[in-house]
Amino acid sequence: MFADKDVLTITDFSREALERLFEETDVILNALTSGKKLDALNGYIMATAFFEPSTRTKMSFQTAMLRLGGACVDLPPEEISSRAKGESLADTIRMLDSYADVIVIRHRLEGAAKFAAEIAEHPVINGGDGTRDHPTQTMIDLYTIKRAHGSIDGLTVGVLGDLKYGRAARSFILGLSIFKPKKIYLISPPQLSCRPEVLHFLEEKGICYEEASTVTKVLPELDVLYVTRIQRERFPDPVEYEKVRGSYVVNELLLKSAKENLAVLHPLPRVDELAYSLDQTSHAWYFKQAYFGVPVRMALLKLILKG
Ligand code: NCD
Repeated sequence: MFADKDVLTITDFSREALERLFEETDVILNALTSGKKLDALNGYIMATAFFEPSTRTKMSFQTAMLRLGGACVDLPPEEISSRAKGESLADTIRMLDSYADVIVIRHRLEGAAKFAAEIAEHPVINGGDGTRDHPTQTMIDLYTIKRAHGSIDGLTVGVLGDLKYGRAARSFILGLSIFKPKKIYLISPPQLSCRPEVLHFLEEKGICYEEASTVTKVLPELDVLYVTRIQRERFPDPVEYEKVRGSYVVNELLLKSAKENLAVLHPLPRVDELAYSLDQTSHAWYFKQAYFGVPVRMALLKLILKG
């Protein structure tokens, strides 16, 4: 299901495959929390090539590899790597492919990970490409929901924020469709609504969804609220960003009408859309979600490299 496989988009994975990944994650998480040392990837090397900013994705992949006894090499920033001399992406990938057993790439261009996968012989993992895909973030998101609610099936899930430019949100919506949620609310300012291609996909899959421009009305129905930041860096025009900036905030006041077991998720980083005062409440699942990034990525690396 995973052996030697590229990880480019979440829809390449079946429900069975994701359930296998979650099972392996549970085993790894137990080992981690009981302080057991793991060495399944001893002798393996992972290369990270991040052409866009990252904290969690890169560092949790590196932590995952090191916690499995493997090693990591990282492409240096542009100014001090051969990209400054004009080396192409294709040649850079060829090099990493000859050094490492697996490559994790993040790039501002949609399709960059697929392009890398066509060049590399070793598996390529998409750590986020432009506005499109972020499959490993979605694996973590779905795993977090399973931990919070026991199952993804039958839940009412709100996805709030920048559904137009946010790859984490887009990938999450596609990922939900692999399971059987009761309903998905797509909540965004009208300028940042979900792309038609994603809506068509949900329709084809027979997933019940509804678009909304404010979260207040639908909040009492939700089991999960997935909050995302407005992707300022992807706006072609800064004036357009100013028009939507700060247009939604999830805070304690809003959550007064929430179900007691509502789980609030966020792929992070947050800017101003998620109040710090929520961190102490039982709704806050986003730091656990970020923490699960390590065991989920450990499970994924292990299944890809060891089958
Ligand atoms: C996300 C990303 O890079 O797409 N971050 C992450 O990987 N956790 C979300 C974001 O930047 O808003």
